[in-house]
Amino acid sequence: MRIAVTGSIATDHLMTFPGRFGDQLVADQLDRVSLSFLVDDLQVRRGGCAANIAFGMGCLGLSPVLVGAVGADFADYRSWLERHGVDCESVYVSELHHTARFLCTTDEDHNQIASFYTGAMAEARLIELGPIAQRLGGLDLVLISPNDPEAMLRHTDEARQRAIPFAADPSQQLARMPSEQIRELIDGAAYLFGNDYEKGLIEQKTGWSDEEILDRVGVRVTTLGPKGVVIDRKGEPPLHVPPAPELGKADPTGVGDAFRSGFLAALAWGLSLERCGQVGNLTATHVLERVGGQEYELGQKVFLERFAAAYGAEAAAEVAQHVKCHHA
Ligand SMILES: Nc1ncnc2c1ncn2[C@@H]1O[C@H](COP(=O)(O)OP(=O)(O)OP(=O)(O)O)[C@@H](O)[C@H]1O
Ligand SMILES: [Mg+2]
Repeated sequence: MRIAVTGSIATDHLMTFPGRFGDQLVADQLDRVSLSFLVDDLQVRRGGCAANIAFGMGCLGLSPVLVGAVGADFADYRSWLERHGVDCESVYVSELHHTARFLCTTDEDHNQIASFYTGAMAEARLIELGPIAQRLGGLDLVLISPNDPEAMLRHTDEARQRAIPFAADPSQQLARMPSEQIRELIDGAAYLFGNDYEKGLIEQKTGWSDEEILDRVGVRVTTLGPKGVVIDRKGEPPLHVPPAPELGKADPTGVGDAFRSGFLAALAWGLSLERCGQVGNLTATHVLERVGGQEYELGQKVFLERFAAAYGAEAAAEVAQHVKCHHA
């Protein structure tokens, strides 16, 4: 099964300021703010929804096709992704802009001042799926994850026209997109991904009820944070898949993306929706245990042991026939 993962590709630059922003702001001079914070920690992390999702799929042994726009500064990031099995040949490299970048400084009270530079991501709207499908001899599924909104609409439209099944994953872009566009992203999707908050937001913004949405999509996958995931299909009882126990909590950034990696991997292996939910949950747990969206390692032996502990030996045996973790 050839899966194209479209969406954002970005790096995060995270700094910590050992003081309080509030102490530096002069109340009656807010019209002339000119501040520089001497920060004592900088962490650079690879991110972006599509890159995170493709990375996780690669770690499970697939070769997902990453589709997104980056700048000339992508070289290191590309080689990292390629080393983890991601096909980066269809990544669009902008001649004008840098790869999207999130810059965030956090003070000691956890206040944050951040900027998100869209950069090359705005050029994702120039990408056509046709030539990508041609290069690969066809595509079986296109995932449409948060990205330049124009790009999300274009990919969805093109998938529909070419009759390529698509999975809608509007997540954080729901907040800024108007109702009409959200309907366009979702209608006719083979899969619809979101967390429980986003499920409500989709209903509110589209004006479609829970039932109506199930009429319009094949499968709805709603992640429930520490409660796992619920998978719905029209006319069938909801399928609740409990979470995989975590060994510790470090940072939730990227858990949703890793869930999608696991879910899509099991789907590509031809496993049941229940297994998809289980592989998704266990992959997500790995991200929860590390700081950053691509800092985890999937080891074949440990992954299968943890899978068996969470979901039973029989389920693990099914997964074992397919999974080829990046690490032993
Ligand atoms: N505390 C937890 N213990 C075990 N698994 C968890 C926990 N929190 C999240 N998960 C796993 O991660 C999946 C996705 O979590 P969640 O619903 O919070 O996604 P999200 O809100 O889209 O996250 P984000 O957008 O911040 O990445 C869940 O379905 C579950 O499998
Ligand atoms: Mg999310």
